[in-house]
Amino acid sequence: MTKKFEEKKFTIPELKGISAKNIEEHLKLYAGYVKNANTILEKIEEYRADSEKHAYALGELQRRFAFEFDGMRNHEYYFGSLEGSPSSLPEGSLLKNAVEKEWGSWEDFLNMFKAIALTRGVGWAILYYDSHTKRLLTQWVDEQHLGHLTGLSWILGIDMWEHAFVADYQPSGKKNYVEDFFGNINWTVIENNYKTA
Ligand SMILES: [Fe+2]
Repeated sequence: MTKKFEEKKFTIPELKGISAKNIEEHLKLYAGYVKNANTILEKIEEYRADSEKHAYALGELQRRFAFEFDGMRNHEYYFGSLEGSPSSLPEGSLLKNAVEKEWGSWEDFLNMFKAIALTRGVGWAILYYDSHTKRLLTQWVDEQHLGHLTGLSWILGIDMWEHAFVADYQPSGKKNYVEDFFGNINWTVIENNYKTA
């Protein structure tokens, strides 16, 4: 029997710019990723009984697993960063310190990260911590899964699929969504992500 991923519940406060309706619809999409990640694992288990016969289907299911799994996990970090209430980084933030060492100033980092978020196409801008080299790295991930960096820990990420913002901002309002998202973040969560990375 395949173990199942469980859909997490998020309590998202009223946000600037991003409507409760959009969050409600977005959470349904998240639930779809959880469901489909579970379905793929079930199918793989079923087809493994005759892996020769199902070789092609197995290969394709395995290939698509990262899309569903990362779709699930990315959204868990995303909604997690909006829970509680918007807050600034704590006094003496270790993350801020590390960012300043890496990129000079917090403002330079934010501007750089926002520019990554505006990459054309659908995907995610992500800030990771690499425990191997003890440094922070930023990345653009296409879709949910193409471009994730191996063995790094997620610190911060923004969903840049149109479903995340288009109902509230229209396609031309992408930049405003990015600005509002940063104002809506509970930075205590992000600081904790860094501390546990
Ligand atoms: Fe999304």
